Amino acid sequence: MAMKRLDETPLGQVLAGTALASPPIWLMRQAGRYLPEYQAIRARCDNFLDLCFSPDLAAEVTLQPVRRFGLDAAILFADILTVPWALGADVAFAKGTGPHMTPLAGPEDLAGAAVVRDRLAPVFDTVRRVAERLQGEPPVIGFAGAPWTLACYLLEGGGSKDFPRARRYAYENPAAMARLVTLLEEATVLYLDGQIRAGAQVVKLFDSWAGVLAPAGQAELVTASHRRLVAELKARHPNVPVITFPRGIGPSYRPYSWQVPADAVALDTAIDPHWAAAHVQDRRPVQGNIDPVALVAGGEALARAMEATRHALGTGPWIANLGHGVLPETPPGHVEEMIGWLRS
Ligand code: CP3
Repeated sequence: MAMKRLDETPLGQVLAGTALASPPIWLMRQAGRYLPEYQAIRARCDNFLDLCFSPDLAAEVTLQPVRRFGLDAAILFADILTVPWALGADVAFAKGTGPHMTPLAGPEDLAGAAVVRDRLAPVFDTVRRVAERLQGEPPVIGFAGAPWTLACYLLEGGGSKDFPRARRYAYENPAAMARLVTLLEEATVLYLDGQIRAGAQVVKLFDSWAGVLAPAGQAELVTASHRRLVAELKARHPNVPVITFPRGIGPSYRPYSWQVPADAVALDTAIDPHWAAAHVQDRRPVQGNIDPVALVAGGEALARAMEATRHALGTGPWIANLGHGVLPETPPGHVEEMIGWLRS
């Protein structure tokens, strides 16, 4: 079977700036707990990170939603917290309560960025297996957490609604915060570089907690950091498109889309797609932003949500996706409905 080039696929075409009548479709968190076939494999590993570091199982989980739904991209199955783990944080996923670790005192307590090359080799192996299997049809998306979001989990010691410890640390220890972000940028570049060398054709940067920062913090810890990261990735791999997701930054999506040289910007659920058509999609292809809760509801509510997004964004370069991840209570049948509707 011949390898399909990225620029021959719908995802590659939209990332190059072309508007398609039938948009490429994939879903954030498309592999996961809403799929019974995922649950069956998940049950074989006590620790969630063991699943992320078992290339045969992680490759199978990556392929499950692609096989079931015929999506236009396969996103690597792993987690953003693999990088903090590799740097020495004691990351654990307790059942039902999300990730935990000992709150970080400062960047000096982490290992140097170079450790990710060896410690995260199993993730590169997963990418290699998936890429070999798919031969570019559909393309494989690699991913990493952005430095600010990783700093949030590290400094807070786990998840939170608004990460007060991490935000306070940024105000009280600006020099240490800058060193932490630099270290996480270096680790992220090496991690994504490893995924690209293993066969990832597109990469995505998740900054899930960008929106908890005040504007000055966003400018420094989100926008400036993404700008450096994307530039460094482009210097190493000029032909690998980068999608960024600065979730929750509101009207700052506009200056963000001027300042960060990403190939596409992912919009979160709260962004008005008509506003985004005028103020983000005028600069960059966009991805998003159907409400994951409408996908849980299905039926008329889902049809209206899809129609509103398609009407606003569908005449420009648009990757159809959700505004955040698929929720565990989503009926898989609703995903089928969504794909059928978007392709009709
Ligand atoms: O299908 C895919 O999208 C690929 C796999 C993927 C996972 N996590 C698997 C996962 C991706 C891309 C992620 C990204 C991720 N992880 C983000 C950024 C995207 C976002 O949702 O904002 C964040 C913030 C995390 C951190 C994380 N991982 C949390 C907070 C949790 C627990 C809560 C939750 O949503 O489940 C995880 C665990 C996790 N990551 C699971 C999966 C399938 C569930 C774990 C399980 O099965 O026990």
